[in-house]
Amino acid sequence: MIKSVFIKYFFVALLPAALLALINFIMPEFFAENSAAVFIVALILALVFSFLIYLGESGETSGLNSFMKELHKEKKELQEIISSIKEPIMVVNNKGIIVLANRAFEKMSGVSRAEGKHFSKTINSDAFTVFLNKVISSKKSSSSSIQIDEQFFFISASYLDTGKEVSVLFQDITQLKNLEKIKRDFVSNVSHEMKTPLTAIKGFADTLEGEIDEKNKHYLDIIKRHTERLINIVSDLLVLSELEEKDVIEISRFSIRGMIADMMRMFKKEAEEKGIELKAVIDTGLDEIMADMGKIEQLLINLTSNAVKYTDEGTITIKASKKGKDLILSTSDTGSGIDKKHISRIFERFYRVSKSRSRQSGGTGLGLAIVKHIALQHKGEVWVDSTPGKGTLFSVRLPHALEKD
Ligand SMILES: Nc1ncnc2c1ncn2[C@@H]1O[C@H](COP(=O)(O)OP(=O)(O)O)[C@@H](O)[C@H]1O
Ligand SMILES: [Mg+2]
Repeated sequence: MIKSVFIKYFFVALLPAALLALINFIMPEFFAENSAAVFIVALILALVFSFLIYLGESGETSGLNSFMKELHKEKKELQEIISSIKEPIMVVNNKGIIVLANRAFEKMSGVSRAEGKHFSKTINSDAFTVFLNKVISSKKSSSSSIQIDEQFFFISASYLDTGKEVSVLFQDITQLKNLEKIKRDFVSNVSHEMKTPLTAIKGFADTLEGEIDEKNKHYLDIIKRHTERLINIVSDLLVLSELEEKDVIEISRFSIRGMIADMMRMFKKEAEEKGIELKAVIDTGLDEIMADMGKIEQLLINLTSNAVKYTDEGTITIKASKKGKDLILSTSDTGSGIDKKHISRIFERFYRVSKSRSRQSGGTGLGLAIVKHIALQHKGEVWVDSTPGKGTLFSVRLPHALEKD
């Protein structure tokens, strides 16, 4: 900078001096006679040059100045916008240090100057620390619902284009979670309340059976059938709300071979009555697994009862096979099959392809929703392959069920 200023003014001084030298060289008499005037002209020229250079430079600096001002203004505006957003936001670098945090974040975390601190020092949640560390180390954007103190947040962490920073947005979903709980409690309470009167109706209808004449027996049958249906719905609702209430699984070691043998016994009569063959296929050497025994039993009952319910002839196969450390449980049937357009919805609560057929056989539309819930609780998945008119295959993957401990 100093060097360039020196060079510029050196040339300003040099130019009139060169002019003087030139005049002196070409017209020495003129120079001698008018030396005072020539000096004055040279001086004026030097002043004009300096002024021109000064104008040029100040123009440049004022351009630079206004650019810097603009930049500063934009940064302030951006900070204002981020600060005014009601949702807590922060940006961390790849070492987990907060490089930007808005007011809402500081309010939520209770840390007044969050910038410069490690994120784990501002939010006291192990689940959040594990989540964000994973995003930082894997360099993959992700989202998750996490409880922080008394609040629930849906947290989205996105890797910025720079590849060096992660922006984290917190959406408060506490109210939503509370509403969900109210809904769950309501369903659970109603189901509990309905269970006793329904059982009483069923009991008295059974007692009446031997005491009424043939004409009224028809009405009693209708009462019994509908009561049965209601009892099924209530007990499925209770299973579902219990699953949601206790969102933990109790892993224990048990024999899947024994459990499938129980299934065969349980559905033997129903299958025989319909003339369907019931088969079990279990990989050699496969016996004990690690999973929640009660829940896996419920899952197998639901899948097998569907297979029996929606099959009129042929074979039903319950299968257990190894896939690395994972266990694959499946039921296949040669029944009605499920049309493609229904496949994506059959795991929804109360969704039934044919209401009349499901109702006829005591269906509630909750069986597969329960299956899916149990599979997800085991961090597994359930999927279906079906050909209408040919049959259906339901498969469930239970990760790590074959690990020794
Ligand atoms: N093995 C199967 N074969 C054909 N359709 C099936 C089978 N399993 C389930 N479905 C279809 O999926 C729907 C939902 O199943 P589910 O949730 O168990 O309810 P439901 O109480 O009606 O059995 C059923 O109503 C039926 O239409
Ligand atoms: Mg069912």
